[in-house]
Amino acid sequence: MQQEIQTHFKTAFEQDVYKGLTEEPKHLSSKYFYDKKGDKLFQDIMNMPEYYLTDAEFDVLDRHKEEIISLFSEKNENFNLIELGAGDGKKTKLLLNYLSEKKIPFKYLPIDISQNALDQLKNSLQIELPTVQVSTQQGTYFEVLADIAKLTDTKKVILFLGSNIGNLLHEQAISFLSNVQQLMHEDDLFFVGFDQKKNPQTILDAYNDKTGITAAFNKNVLARINTDLGGNFNLEHFLHWEVYDPETGTAKSFLVSKKEQHVRINQLDLNVSFRPWETIHTEISQKYDDKTVAWLAQQSGLAIKTQFTDSKKQYKNYVFKKK
Ligand code: AVI
Repeated sequence: MQQEIQTHFKTAFEQDVYKGLTEEPKHLSSKYFYDKKGDKLFQDIMNMPEYYLTDAEFDVLDRHKEEIISLFSEKNENFNLIELGAGDGKKTKLLLNYLSEKKIPFKYLPIDISQNALDQLKNSLQIELPTVQVSTQQGTYFEVLADIAKLTDTKKVILFLGSNIGNLLHEQAISFLSNVQQLMHEDDLFFVGFDQKKNPQTILDAYNDKTGITAAFNKNVLARINTDLGGNFNLEHFLHWEVYDPETGTAKSFLVSKKEQHVRINQLDLNVSFRPWETIHTEISQKYDDKTVAWLAQQSGLAIKTQFTDSKKQYKNYVFKKK
């Protein structure tokens, strides 16, 4: 019976949920946090005082904008500023604003899987920075990047901000960085945000806020299974739990079943049982140091050109070139 069901998944979400909830220990991917409600919860997280990452990266860009932009536009030649996973573009707007003030020739190409996110970004840019040339690209990063790499010999500067890389295991991060590396030419730059190791308490507070926004964000994957796949998870019967290992720099999120319970997911024709205090692992948020970033770069065929940090040294943006 199970074999037959497994061959009939309509979406990757169905398949991943089935796999994650039938394996031991259970797991669900954090990429499924982000539906409309999840996007809003993540916006709320970025505005929380405990979630230092956003302000820290904003500070990096603000303090070093002159130097960053002179790297991007070395000979004042036209370049394509390509952003992977642009979101609301709040931090990028700081750079766009500076570029536009200095009348530096460039084109902004935000890439996102969500057309809705791109439309909103484009509308806000038309109002806030009407002189910036924007061309939104909907699709997965690599499809779109491959197209851009084929079509143009204009210099590419690729942005990957927000420590989004931290949601990947090292092995996945190396494969991601290597894929970008293969699409880069000699002069192209890859500008990536990496949250740094720091006082473990600061990290735990960022991922376990007292107001419960991060808990709601984590539980949103269950809410999404309920809405999209006909599940009957009771969100109150699960606990958001965060751990941080200062040795490896890995913050891990779990949903913990507060009691024995049975959940039905109609669309998957699946019954899932939970033992008391059984876990579902949902997310990793990796924290880095220079040694780890140097290792990731080396494994991916990238060289570190330079790096920038914020005033509190909580966060770093590295500039990579192709080796
Ligand atoms: C999107 N990503 C980099 C966030 C992070 O910090 O790992 C997602 C997040 N999870 C909990 N809070 C924020």
